[in-house]
Amino acid sequence: MPETLYERIASGIREQIGQGLYRPGDRLPSVRHQRSQLGVSASTVLQAYGQLQDQRLIEARPQSGYFVSQPVHMPPPPTMSKPVFSPAEVTVSGLVMEVVQAIEAPDMIQFGAALPNTTAPAIGRVHRMLARAARSPRNRNASYAFPPGLPELRLQIARRAVDAGCSVSPDEVIITNGCQEALVLCLRAVAAPGDTVAIESPSFYGVLQAIESLGMKALEIPTHPLKGISLEALELATEQWPIKACVLTPAFSNPLGYCMPDDKKEALARLLEKKDLPLIEDDLYGELGYGPSRPRTIKSWDQDGRVMLCSSVSKTLEPGLRVGWTSPGRYFQKIEHLKLVTSMATATLPQVAVADYLENGGYDRHLRSMRSQYRRNRDICINLIARYFPEGTRVTRPEGGFLAWVELPGNADAMTLYHQAMAQRISITPGPLFSPKNRFRNHIRINYALDWNEGREQAIEKLGKLLSRML
Ligand SMILES: Cc1ncc(COP(=O)(O)O)c(C=O)c1O
Repeated sequence: MPETLYERIASGIREQIGQGLYRPGDRLPSVRHQRSQLGVSASTVLQAYGQLQDQRLIEARPQSGYFVSQPVHMPPPPTMSKPVFSPAEVTVSGLVMEVVQAIEAPDMIQFGAALPNTTAPAIGRVHRMLARAARSPRNRNASYAFPPGLPELRLQIARRAVDAGCSVSPDEVIITNGCQEALVLCLRAVAAPGDTVAIESPSFYGVLQAIESLGMKALEIPTHPLKGISLEALELATEQWPIKACVLTPAFSNPLGYCMPDDKKEALARLLEKKDLPLIEDDLYGELGYGPSRPRTIKSWDQDGRVMLCSSVSKTLEPGLRVGWTSPGRYFQKIEHLKLVTSMATATLPQVAVADYLENGGYDRHLRSMRSQYRRNRDICINLIARYFPEGTRVTRPEGGFLAWVELPGNADAMTLYHQAMAQRISITPGPLFSPKNRFRNHIRINYALDWNEGREQAIEKLGKLLSRML
């Protein structure tokens, strides 16, 4: 039985679609029409439409309204990874450099780099705040913002951590050059060359490169495409190998997009305590969930300061600002010192502008708009993949962020597809980047942050044709 008002409305519309009142491709009544017809608020209608979108019954088209979806066969999620269960040296850097430089070319149809949509009005507002900070007569803006970083920015970050279930004081936050620097500093604080670090599988290639450059070894833990790493496998691994730390992205990971359920996060926090292991928690996509509430961080269950939370504004605002941070618990002093010797400080002006924006710029409104845009783009992305990619393709359906992980059918080779697509000026990220030893040869990652247009839809069709030919 439907419980809430919006669920009752959604159920009524579902029935109407079932009775053929609205057929695939038909436009549904506008939100304004429904609002006055049903005597409810616009947000209730939007919630009802949101639920029907989640169920892929309807889709929103920018500036046009809501339409009944064409019934397509939805591809299932990728299978669970089964990595080799022993620590490995990492060899991804050469390939990462080649791919990262190539996918950024300006005339490319971009599905490759994990860039957010930077055409939002919020970005203009941040730039104006940056210009204002540059014009400020305050000498301080021209000086070093020595670690831990600008106090007003640390205050804003500590305030926002409350939504993630964390009680962090501004004095526990260190500003870094993006999340990447935060991850590297945390790794250096808890592990040394030759040490083994447990990671999810597939894993963000920035973490792999960091492990490689620090001379550490990576141990891939089997990872469920919807729920994250296997805790049983992690526990077993700690009994077999001298693991020094774990690095995980439990909220909308890159590239899997999974969100670890809360009970599992809590169980993981207890396992870390039992095994006396530190965790580097990458929460970069945590504010981009499509659901009603922001996911809690594992750090919110941390009782003794072993979780080092890392994030930045790279995916919610823009990566060029290079404003990131870590809240590293008991490792604070070590990381503060490492930050000083590594880069002295993070640039001052972007810190001033981001602090100003977080306080006065309407960040939450911006996030709400990006989330619904990304959710809409995800649905269209999955529909296009279902329509154009060969049978047997599997794809994730992330509940946050803007990255889809695609498992290609048969013996399709991601590197061959990558090169063929590049020749047609289409960028994708090939799967081998996400494993220490270049596995995932039949996977690719697709970025769906940008709104769909004819060119982007045709590019997916072309990728599908290349794949069909390859098979
Ligand atoms: C999971 C993850 N962590 C960290 C980073 C690096 O972020 P930043 O640009 O803030 O250094 C990225 C960038 O793509 C990422 O996807």
